[in-house]
Amino acid sequence: MALDQWSDFDHHAEDFSEASIWPTYQAMRECPVAHSQKHGGYWILTRYADVAAAARDHQSFSSAHGVRIPEVGPGRSIPLDFDPPVHTAYRALFAKAFTPDRVKELQPFVRRRIQELLTSFRSAGGGDVVAAIAEPLPLEILTEVVGFSPATVSRLRVLTRSSWQQVASLPLDVARTRIRELMLKEIAAHRASQPDDYLTWLLTAAVQDRPLTDDEIARTLISFAIAGHETTVNAIGNLIFVLVTEPGLQDQLHADTTVIPRFVEESLRLRTPAHMFGRWTTRPVRIGDAEIGAGEPVLLSFAAANRDEKQFPHAEEFDYVRGARGHLAFGAGIHLCVGAAFARLELRMLLHELRELPPLRLDGAVRFTKLEGGHHLGPRYLPVSFATERGRRQTP
Ligand code: HEM
Repeated sequence: MALDQWSDFDHHAEDFSEASIWPTYQAMRECPVAHSQKHGGYWILTRYADVAAAARDHQSFSSAHGVRIPEVGPGRSIPLDFDPPVHTAYRALFAKAFTPDRVKELQPFVRRRIQELLTSFRSAGGGDVVAAIAEPLPLEILTEVVGFSPATVSRLRVLTRSSWQQVASLPLDVARTRIRELMLKEIAAHRASQPDDYLTWLLTAAVQDRPLTDDEIARTLISFAIAGHETTVNAIGNLIFVLVTEPGLQDQLHADTTVIPRFVEESLRLRTPAHMFGRWTTRPVRIGDAEIGAGEPVLLSFAAANRDEKQFPHAEEFDYVRGARGHLAFGAGIHLCVGAAFARLELRMLLHELRELPPLRLDGAVRFTKLEGGHHLGPRYLPVSFATERGRRQTP
Protein backbone atom coordinates (compact mmCIF):
# COMPACT_ATOMS: atom_id res chain seq x y z
CA MET A 1 0.00 0.00 0.00
CA ALA A 2 1.30 3.48 -0.88
CA LEU A 3 2.83 5.53 1.90
CA ASP A 4 0.97 8.64 0.75
CA GLN A 5 -2.38 6.99 1.40
CA TRP A 6 -2.10 8.54 4.84
CA SER A 7 -0.95 12.01 3.78
CA ASP A 8 -4.09 13.62 5.29
CA PHE A 9 -4.02 11.59 8.48
CA ASP A 10 -4.15 13.74 11.62
CA HIS A 11 -4.14 12.15 15.06
CA HIS A 12 -5.45 15.45 16.47
CA ALA A 13 -8.56 15.44 14.22
CA GLU A 14 -11.83 15.95 16.09
CA ASP A 15 -13.33 12.81 14.55
CA PHE A 16 -10.35 10.56 15.35
CA SER A 17 -12.13 8.76 18.20
CA GLU A 18 -13.67 5.44 19.26
CA ALA A 19 -15.68 4.86 16.07
CA SER A 20 -12.86 5.50 13.59
CA ILE A 21 -9.66 4.87 15.53
CA TRP A 22 -9.57 1.07 15.58
CA PRO A 23 -10.41 0.52 11.87
CA THR A 24 -7.82 3.20 11.01
CA TYR A 25 -5.14 1.36 12.98
CA GLN A 26 -6.10 -1.88 11.28
CA ALA A 27 -5.66 -0.32 7.83
CA MET A 28 -2.41 1.36 8.91
CA ARG A 29 -0.89 -1.92 10.05
CA GLU A 30 -1.25 -3.10 6.42
CA CYS A 31 0.84 -0.18 5.23
CA PRO A 32 3.09 -0.85 7.33
CA VAL A 33 4.76 2.57 7.82
CA ALA A 34 2.41 5.48 7.27
CA HIS A 35 3.41 9.06 6.48
CA SER A 36 1.26 12.13 7.01
CA GLN A 37 1.87 15.62 5.58
CA LYS A 38 0.10 17.25 8.53
CA HIS A 39 1.96 19.18 11.23
CA GLY A 40 5.01 19.55 8.98
CA GLY A 41 5.09 15.83 8.12
CA TYR A 42 5.45 12.80 10.40
CA TRP A 43 5.65 9.02 10.28
CA ILE A 44 3.35 6.62 12.12
CA LEU A 45 4.35 3.13 13.26
CA THR A 46 1.51 0.73 14.10
CA ARG A 47 2.93 -2.81 13.89
CA TYR A 48 3.88 -4.41 17.19
CA ALA A 49 7.40 -5.39 16.11
CA ASP A 50 8.19 -1.90 14.75
CA VAL A 51 6.70 0.01 17.68
CA ALA A 52 8.40 -2.19 20.31
CA ALA A 53 11.75 -2.00 18.50
CA ALA A 54 11.58 1.81 18.16
CA ALA A 55 10.55 2.27 21.82
CA ARG A 56 13.52 0.13 22.90
CA ASP A 57 15.99 1.96 20.63
CA HIS A 58 16.21 5.34 22.36
CA GLN A 59 19.54 6.04 20.63
CA SER A 60 17.86 6.14 17.20
CA PHE A 61 14.45 7.36 18.43
CA SER A 62 15.01 10.31 20.74
CA SER A 63 12.54 11.85 23.21
CA ALA A 64 14.56 15.06 23.56
CA HIS A 65 12.19 17.05 21.29
CA GLY A 66 9.31 15.98 23.51
CA VAL A 67 6.88 13.18 22.80
CA ARG A 68 4.16 15.32 21.21
CA ILE A 69 3.74 15.88 17.48
CA PRO A 70 3.73 18.74 16.61
CA GLU A 71 6.29 19.84 19.18
CA VAL A 72 4.80 22.01 21.93
CA GLY A 73 6.79 25.00 23.19
CA PRO A 74 9.27 24.93 26.07
CA GLY A 75 8.64 23.30 29.46
CA ARG A 76 9.71 19.72 28.82
CA SER A 77 8.09 17.02 30.96
CA ILE A 78 10.39 15.31 33.45
CA PRO A 79 11.59 12.59 32.70
CA LEU A 80 9.47 11.84 29.61
CA ASP A 81 10.99 14.43 27.27
CA PHE A 82 14.67 13.69 27.91
CA ASP A 83 17.33 11.25 26.72
CA PRO A 84 20.08 9.73 28.90
CA PRO A 85 22.03 10.70 30.89
CA VAL A 86 19.68 13.45 32.11
CA HIS A 87 16.68 11.16 31.71
CA THR A 88 18.24 8.55 34.00
CA ALA A 89 18.88 11.12 36.73
CA TYR A 90 15.37 12.59 36.51
CA ARG A 91 13.71 9.19 36.41
CA ALA A 92 15.35 8.22 39.70
CA LEU A 93 13.30 10.99 41.39
CA PHE A 94 10.14 8.96 40.78
CA ALA A 95 11.51 5.75 42.27
CA LYS A 96 11.36 7.28 45.76
CA ALA A 97 7.59 7.83 45.44
CA PHE A 98 6.93 4.20 44.49
CA THR A 99 9.35 2.12 46.58
CA PRO A 100 7.85 -1.32 47.44
CA ASP A 101 7.53 -0.19 51.10
CA ARG A 102 5.74 3.00 50.13
CA VAL A 103 3.35 1.17 47.79
CA LYS A 104 2.56 -1.27 50.63
CA GLU A 105 1.99 1.63 53.01
CA LEU A 106 -0.42 3.28 50.56
CA GLN A 107 -2.60 0.22 50.04
CA PRO A 108 -5.03 0.78 52.96
CA PHE A 109 -5.61 4.36 51.79
CA VAL A 110 -6.25 3.26 48.19
CA ARG A 111 -8.66 0.53 49.33
CA ARG A 112 -10.53 2.87 51.66
CA ARG A 113 -10.99 5.58 49.00
CA ILE A 114 -12.20 3.01 46.47
CA GLN A 115 -14.67 1.63 49.03
CA GLU A 116 -15.93 5.12 49.94
CA LEU A 117 -16.42 6.16 46.32
CA LEU A 118 -18.17 2.87 45.47
CA THR A 119 -20.43 3.13 48.54
CA SER A 120 -21.62 6.61 47.51
CA PHE A 121 -22.05 5.43 43.94
CA ARG A 122 -24.12 2.47 45.11
CA SER A 123 -26.28 4.70 47.34
CA ALA A 124 -26.94 6.95 44.36
CA GLY A 125 -28.06 3.87 42.40
CA GLY A 126 -25.23 4.32 39.89
CA GLY A 127 -24.79 7.12 37.36
CA ASP A 128 -21.82 8.29 35.30
CA VAL A 129 -18.96 6.12 36.49
CA VAL A 130 -16.38 8.45 34.90
CA ALA A 131 -17.46 11.43 37.02
CA ALA A 132 -18.11 9.34 40.15
CA ILE A 133 -15.09 7.01 40.21
CA ALA A 134 -12.66 7.23 37.28
CA GLU A 135 -11.96 10.97 37.57
CA PRO A 136 -11.71 11.54 41.33
CA LEU A 137 -9.86 8.37 42.31
CA PRO A 138 -6.45 8.70 40.55
CA LEU A 139 -5.95 12.32 41.55
CA GLU A 140 -6.88 11.69 45.19
CA ILE A 141 -4.47 8.79 45.29
CA LEU A 142 -1.67 10.74 43.61
CA THR A 143 -2.30 13.47 46.14
CA GLU A 144 -1.60 11.03 48.93
CA VAL A 145 1.49 9.78 47.05
CA VAL A 146 2.92 13.29 46.58
CA GLY A 147 1.46 15.39 49.40
CA PHE A 148 -0.62 17.97 47.48
CA SER A 149 -3.00 20.08 49.59
CA PRO A 150 -6.80 19.63 49.18
CA ALA A 151 -7.06 23.08 47.53
CA THR A 152 -4.44 22.13 44.95
CA VAL A 153 -6.30 18.92 44.19
CA SER A 154 -9.57 20.63 43.44
CA ARG A 155 -7.82 23.07 41.07
CA LEU A 156 -5.92 20.22 39.46
CA ARG A 157 -9.14 18.36 38.72
CA VAL A 158 -10.25 21.11 36.41
CA LEU A 159 -6.84 21.91 34.98
CA THR A 160 -5.62 18.41 34.15
CA ARG A 161 -8.59 17.71 31.93
CA SER A 162 -8.42 21.05 30.15
CA SER A 163 -4.68 20.65 29.66
CA TRP A 164 -5.17 17.73 27.30
CA GLN A 165 -8.06 19.41 25.54
CA GLN A 166 -5.98 22.49 24.87
CA VAL A 167 -2.55 21.06 24.26
CA ALA A 168 -3.11 20.58 20.53
CA SER A 169 -4.74 23.88 19.77
CA LEU A 170 -2.89 26.47 21.79
CA PRO A 171 0.60 27.76 20.96
CA LEU A 172 1.06 28.48 24.63
CA ASP A 173 -0.58 25.89 26.78
CA VAL A 174 -2.57 28.01 29.19
CA ALA A 175 -3.70 25.15 31.41
CA ARG A 176 -0.13 23.89 31.79
CA THR A 177 1.01 27.37 32.77
CA ARG A 178 -1.68 27.46 35.44
CA ILE A 179 -0.74 24.02 36.69
CA ARG A 180 2.85 25.23 36.91
CA GLU A 181 1.80 28.27 38.99
CA LEU A 182 -0.16 25.98 41.27
CA MET A 183 2.87 23.74 41.72
CA LEU A 184 5.14 26.69 42.53
CA LYS A 185 2.67 27.75 45.26
CA GLU A 186 2.65 24.20 46.62
CA ILE A 187 6.47 24.18 46.67
CA ALA A 188 6.53 27.45 48.65
CA ALA A 189 3.95 26.11 51.13
CA HIS A 190 5.90 22.89 51.64
CA ARG A 191 9.15 24.78 52.08
CA ALA A 192 7.51 26.77 54.88
CA SER A 193 5.78 23.93 56.73
CA GLN A 194 7.97 20.88 55.83
CA PRO A 195 5.34 18.12 56.24
CA ASP A 196 6.71 14.57 56.13
CA ASP A 197 5.87 13.66 52.53
CA TYR A 198 7.36 13.04 49.08
CA LEU A 199 7.11 16.68 48.03
CA THR A 200 9.18 17.81 51.02
CA TRP A 201 11.75 15.12 50.16
CA LEU A 202 11.83 16.45 46.58
CA LEU A 203 12.81 19.91 47.88
CA THR A 204 16.16 18.55 48.99
CA ALA A 205 16.65 15.94 46.25
CA ALA A 206 19.60 16.17 43.87
CA VAL A 207 20.18 15.38 40.19
CA GLN A 208 23.66 14.87 38.84
CA ASP A 209 25.19 16.10 42.11
CA ARG A 210 23.31 19.40 42.30
CA PRO A 211 20.04 20.43 43.95
CA LEU A 212 16.89 20.62 41.84
CA THR A 213 15.71 24.07 40.82
CA ASP A 214 12.13 25.07 41.65
CA ASP A 215 11.34 24.83 37.95
CA GLU A 216 12.53 21.21 37.90
CA ILE A 217 10.57 20.38 41.06
CA ALA A 218 7.46 21.93 39.50
CA ARG A 219 7.91 19.95 36.30
CA THR A 220 8.37 16.71 38.25
CA LEU A 221 5.12 17.41 40.12
CA ILE A 222 3.34 18.23 36.85
CA SER A 223 4.33 14.79 35.57
CA PHE A 224 2.60 13.22 38.56
CA ALA A 225 -0.45 15.38 38.04
CA ILE A 226 -0.72 14.85 34.29
CA ALA A 227 1.13 11.64 33.27
CA GLY A 228 -0.28 9.79 36.25
CA HIS A 229 -3.80 11.21 36.13
CA GLU A 230 -5.41 11.21 32.67
CA THR A 231 -3.91 7.78 31.88
CA THR A 232 -5.40 6.20 35.00
CA VAL A 233 -8.77 7.95 34.54
CA ASN A 234 -9.04 6.39 31.10
CA ALA A 235 -7.71 3.03 32.28
CA ILE A 236 -10.50 2.88 34.90
CA GLY A 237 -13.16 4.04 32.43
CA ASN A 238 -11.98 1.50 29.85
CA LEU A 239 -11.89 -1.32 32.40
CA ILE A 240 -15.45 -0.66 33.52
CA PHE A 241 -16.57 -0.25 29.90
CA VAL A 242 -15.17 -3.72 29.17
CA LEU A 243 -16.87 -5.15 32.27
CA VAL A 244 -20.31 -3.87 31.29
CA THR A 245 -20.06 -4.70 27.59
CA GLU A 246 -18.37 -8.13 27.56
CA PRO A 247 -20.96 -10.82 28.34
CA GLY A 248 -20.21 -13.08 31.29
CA LEU A 249 -17.18 -11.17 32.52
CA GLN A 250 -18.71 -10.02 35.79
CA ASP A 251 -19.80 -13.57 36.62
CA GLN A 252 -16.22 -14.73 36.11
CA LEU A 253 -15.02 -11.94 38.34
CA HIS A 254 -17.46 -12.87 41.10
CA ALA A 255 -16.61 -16.56 40.83
CA ASP A 256 -12.82 -16.32 40.89
CA THR A 257 -10.53 -13.53 42.11
CA THR A 258 -7.49 -15.02 40.40
CA VAL A 259 -8.76 -13.66 37.07
CA ILE A 260 -8.26 -10.07 38.26
CA PRO A 261 -4.66 -9.47 37.11
CA ARG A 262 -5.46 -10.94 33.69
CA PHE A 263 -8.62 -8.84 33.34
CA VAL A 264 -6.57 -5.76 34.03
CA GLU A 265 -3.77 -6.61 31.55
CA GLU A 266 -6.18 -7.62 28.78
CA SER A 267 -8.18 -4.45 29.26
CA LEU A 268 -4.97 -2.37 29.04
CA ARG A 269 -4.00 -4.23 25.86
CA LEU A 270 -7.37 -4.07 24.11
CA ARG A 271 -8.30 -0.56 25.18
CA THR A 272 -4.88 1.00 25.65
CA PRO A 273 -5.47 4.33 27.47
CA ALA A 274 -2.35 6.21 26.25
CA HIS A 275 -2.39 5.61 22.49
CA MET A 276 0.70 7.14 21.00
CA PHE A 277 3.89 9.04 21.76
CA GLY A 278 6.35 10.73 19.44
CA ARG A 279 10.07 10.38 18.89
CA TRP A 280 12.58 12.16 16.63
CA THR A 281 15.06 10.04 14.65
CA THR A 282 18.74 10.78 15.36
CA ARG A 283 19.98 8.94 12.25
CA PRO A 284 18.48 7.46 9.06
CA VAL A 285 16.35 4.40 9.85
CA ARG A 286 14.90 1.82 7.49
CA ILE A 287 11.60 0.17 8.43
CA GLY A 288 10.17 -2.18 5.81
CA ASP A 289 10.31 -0.26 2.52
CA ALA A 290 10.36 3.10 4.23
CA GLU A 291 13.56 5.16 4.50
CA ILE A 292 13.16 7.58 7.39
CA GLY A 293 15.80 10.30 7.39
CA ALA A 294 17.57 11.72 10.44
CA GLY A 295 15.68 14.36 12.44
CA GLU A 296 12.18 13.20 11.46
CA PRO A 297 9.20 12.93 13.82
CA VAL A 298 7.77 9.42 14.24
CA LEU A 299 4.63 8.50 16.19
CA LEU A 300 4.73 5.16 17.98
CA SER A 301 1.19 3.86 18.34
CA PHE A 302 1.19 1.59 21.36
CA ALA A 303 -2.59 1.16 21.02
CA ALA A 304 -2.36 -0.02 17.38
CA ALA A 305 0.56 -2.32 18.21
CA ASN A 306 -1.48 -3.90 21.00
CA ARG A 307 -4.06 -5.02 18.42
CA ASP A 308 -1.55 -6.48 15.96
CA GLU A 309 -2.77 -9.98 15.03
CA LYS A 310 0.81 -11.13 14.51
CA GLN A 311 1.49 -10.59 18.20
CA PHE A 312 -1.95 -11.19 19.69
CA PRO A 313 -4.15 -13.63 17.73
CA HIS A 314 -7.83 -12.52 17.54
CA ALA A 315 -6.48 -9.22 18.78
CA GLU A 316 -9.80 -7.34 18.53
CA GLU A 317 -11.38 -9.63 21.15
CA PHE A 318 -11.20 -9.43 24.92
CA ASP A 319 -9.58 -12.76 25.81
CA TYR A 320 -8.17 -12.54 29.30
CA VAL A 321 -6.97 -16.15 29.17
CA ARG A 322 -4.20 -15.09 26.80
CA GLY A 323 -2.39 -13.23 29.61
CA ALA A 324 -1.50 -10.31 27.24
CA ARG A 325 2.19 -10.70 28.01
CA GLY A 326 4.36 -8.05 26.42
CA HIS A 327 1.57 -5.55 25.71
CA LEU A 328 2.79 -1.99 25.23
CA ALA A 329 0.17 -0.08 27.23
CA PHE A 330 2.92 1.20 29.55
CA GLY A 331 5.41 1.69 26.71
CA ALA A 332 8.76 -0.12 26.54
CA GLY A 333 12.47 0.57 26.92
CA ILE A 334 13.93 3.29 29.10
CA HIS A 335 10.68 5.31 29.20
CA LEU A 336 8.57 2.39 30.42
CA CYS A 337 5.95 3.92 32.70
CA VAL A 338 7.30 4.60 36.19
CA GLY A 339 3.79 4.42 37.67
CA ALA A 340 2.86 1.08 36.08
CA ALA A 341 3.02 -1.01 39.27
CA PHE A 342 0.99 1.57 41.13
CA ALA A 343 -1.61 1.91 38.35
CA ARG A 344 -1.95 -1.88 38.25
CA LEU A 345 -2.50 -1.96 42.01
CA GLU A 346 -5.26 0.66 41.73
CA LEU A 347 -7.04 -1.18 38.89
CA ARG A 348 -6.80 -4.55 40.61
CA MET A 349 -8.11 -3.16 43.91
CA LEU A 350 -11.02 -1.57 42.11
CA LEU A 351 -12.01 -4.93 40.64
CA HIS A 352 -11.67 -6.58 44.06
CA GLU A 353 -13.99 -4.02 45.61
CA LEU A 354 -16.50 -4.20 42.74
CA ARG A 355 -16.99 -7.86 43.58
CA GLU A 356 -18.69 -6.78 46.82
CA LEU A 357 -21.45 -5.02 44.86
CA PRO A 358 -24.21 -6.24 42.58
CA PRO A 359 -23.12 -6.42 38.93
CA LEU A 360 -23.01 -3.22 36.91
CA ARG A 361 -25.23 -2.70 33.90
CA LEU A 362 -24.76 -0.25 31.05
CA ASP A 363 -27.54 2.29 31.45
CA GLY A 364 -27.48 4.52 28.37
CA ALA A 365 -25.25 5.63 25.52
CA VAL A 366 -21.50 5.85 26.19
CA ARG A 367 -19.59 8.90 24.96
CA PHE A 368 -15.87 8.68 24.28
CA THR A 369 -13.28 11.45 24.26
CA LYS A 370 -11.43 12.33 21.08
CA LEU A 371 -7.74 11.40 21.16
CA GLU A 372 -6.96 14.07 23.75
CA GLY A 373 -3.69 15.90 23.24
CA GLY A 374 -3.00 13.31 20.53
CA HIS A 375 -2.48 10.70 23.26
CA HIS A 376 -5.45 9.72 25.40
CA LEU A 377 -8.69 7.89 24.71
CA GLY A 378 -11.37 6.66 27.09
CA PRO A 379 -15.04 7.04 27.96
CA ARG A 380 -15.99 10.62 28.79
CA TYR A 381 -19.46 9.56 29.98
CA LEU A 382 -20.26 5.99 31.01
CA PRO A 383 -23.72 5.57 32.58
CA VAL A 384 -24.19 2.42 34.64
CA SER A 385 -26.68 1.09 37.18
CA PHE A 386 -26.64 -1.88 39.53
CA ALA A 387 -28.40 -5.11 38.64
CA THR A 388 -30.97 -6.47 41.10
CA GLU A 389 -30.12 -9.79 42.74
CA ARG A 390 -32.46 -11.41 40.22
CA GLY A 391 -30.63 -9.62 37.43
CA ARG A 392 -27.36 -10.87 38.84
CA ARG A 393 -28.42 -14.52 38.47
CA GLN A 394 -29.49 -13.77 34.93
CA THR A 395 -26.15 -12.25 33.91
CA PRO A 396 -25.38 -13.74 30.47
C1 HEM B 1 -2.96 2.92 33.56
C2 HEM B 1 -2.30 4.03 33.80
C3 HEM B 1 -1.08 4.46 33.02
C4 HEM B 1 -0.77 4.26 31.70
C5 HEM B 1 -1.60 3.53 30.64
C6 HEM B 1 0.51 4.89 31.46
C7 HEM B 1 1.17 4.88 30.25
C8 HEM B 1 2.46 5.34 30.05
C9 HEM B 1 3.23 5.17 28.83
C10 HEM B 1 2.74 4.51 27.55
C11 HEM B 1 4.45 5.74 29.04
C12 HEM B 1 5.62 5.77 28.03
C13 HEM B 1 5.62 7.04 27.20
C14 HEM B 1 6.70 7.03 26.15
O1 HEM B 1 7.25 5.98 25.81
O2 HEM B 1 7.05 8.12 25.63
C15 HEM B 1 4.46 6.27 30.38
C16 HEM B 1 5.51 6.93 30.97
C17 HEM B 1 5.41 7.56 32.19
N1 HEM B 1 4.39 7.44 33.12
FE1 HEM B 1 2.71 6.37 32.92
N2 HEM B 1 0.93 5.48 32.63
C18 HEM B 1 0.00 5.22 33.61
C19 HEM B 1 0.06 5.60 34.95
C20 HEM B 1 1.03 6.38 35.48
C21 HEM B 1 1.08 6.82 36.86
C22 HEM B 1 0.07 6.45 37.96
C23 HEM B 1 2.16 7.62 36.98
C24 HEM B 1 2.54 8.31 38.25
C25 HEM B 1 3.46 9.14 38.43
C26 HEM B 1 2.81 7.68 35.66
C27 HEM B 1 3.94 8.41 35.33
C28 HEM B 1 4.68 8.25 34.18
C29 HEM B 1 5.95 8.92 33.94
C30 HEM B 1 6.64 9.91 34.87
C31 HEM B 1 6.41 8.48 32.69
C32 HEM B 1 7.71 8.85 32.00
C33 HEM B 1 8.75 7.76 32.23
C34 HEM B 1 10.07 8.02 31.51
O3 HEM B 1 10.14 8.86 30.62
O4 HEM B 1 11.06 7.37 31.90
N3 HEM B 1 2.10 6.92 34.79
N4 HEM B 1 3.24 6.00 30.99
